[in-house]
Amino acid sequence: MNSKGVSILLKAIDMNIGFIGAGNLALYMAQGFVKSGAIRASQIIASTPETKKVTVKEIKELGVKFSKDNKITVEQSKLLILAVKPKIIPFVLDELNSYITKDHLIVSFAAGVNIASIEKKLQSDAKVMRGMTNTCCAVKEGATVYATGKNATDQDCQIMEQIFGRVGTVEEVEEAHIDAVTGLSGSGPAYAFEAIEALSDGAVKMGLPRGIALRLGAQSLIGAGRMLLETGKHPGELKDAICSPEGATIYALHHLEKGGFRSLLIDAVEASCCRTRDLQQQGSEEATDTESIKKSIREGMHLKDFLEQNGILKSS
Ligand SMILES: NC(=O)c1ccc[n+]([C@@H]2O[C@H](COP(=O)([O-])OP(=O)(O)OC[C@H]3O[C@@H](n4cnc5c(N)ncnc54)[C@H](OP(=O)(O)O)[C@@H]3O)[C@@H](O)[C@H]2O)c1
Repeated sequence: MNSKGVSILLKAIDMNIGFIGAGNLALYMAQGFVKSGAIRASQIIASTPETKKVTVKEIKELGVKFSKDNKITVEQSKLLILAVKPKIIPFVLDELNSYITKDHLIVSFAAGVNIASIEKKLQSDAKVMRGMTNTCCAVKEGATVYATGKNATDQDCQIMEQIFGRVGTVEEVEEAHIDAVTGLSGSGPAYAFEAIEALSDGAVKMGLPRGIALRLGAQSLIGAGRMLLETGKHPGELKDAICSPEGATIYALHHLEKGGFRSLLIDAVEASCCRTRDLQQQGSEEATDTESIKKSIREGMHLKDFLEQNGILKSS
């Protein structure tokens, strides 16, 4: 819709997108891209070694192409989204390095994995970005940020803005801010879901049926967020407008203050951010466990060969 309320049909973006990893993040992003009409399903491919996962089934149901082989995904895409766990990133980069060209734009969404550690694993001309987003991309309300590596161009930034702008908000940030973004909006939907559930519990306790309690709780969060963004007012000012003297809301807010509500939220964002930094440590140490190795072994590659190729085992 434009400012006059007239529907504008935006054309699908002509871009082949590949997901390395077909888990939750890839699914929710793909849902957003396809359902918003931003990218045609036939222009998206995802890969992961395991095919029996629910997310793989749901990704296929969208009409997205699927492969068990990450190399096929690289070959068939221009924008390559890394959507695997942070500790798997070094292994997929080693696996795919020789297939990645200077025309690919590689965007990693792995929490805590920094751009330098990715660039180090690839050819010197590889175009790399690091992003953070959230699952709300699925309903076009995602909150995406990205930071650029040494070879990413203005045109690459436009690609990010164009694509992620169709499934929510998107902005460029300094890489140093991405861990804090992870604690805020990467994890944010989980805080909101907990809040909606607890708010509806309160209403159910006071006699409201569960369904309407959840709907009203969710809409209150959507409405408050939209109001803040559209008015540009400080949240304190918007809160004051609801708190009439001696009224119900200020009594409720006093309870939240006594329970340490705001302090808890600050702690939660800090905890998520710090955990992200721990993951960065793990990623840069290339910590290897059996599960990571299992997932990174492609068909036909023996464990011994894999370990030797990755310098974990000395060749005999
Ligand atoms: N979920 C979120 O809200 C969110 C938000 C922002 C960023 N992120 C980041 O996004 C990344 C993925 O998160 P997620 O929640 O989607 O995790 P997930 O559901 O566990 O998905 C990871 C996917 O990668 C697959 N995989 C494992 N090894 C692989 C390999 N060698 N090659 C290709 N695929 C492989 C996994 O397969 P198996 O299931 O068989 O192991 C799984 O399908 C993480 O780095 C996370 O930090 C997530």
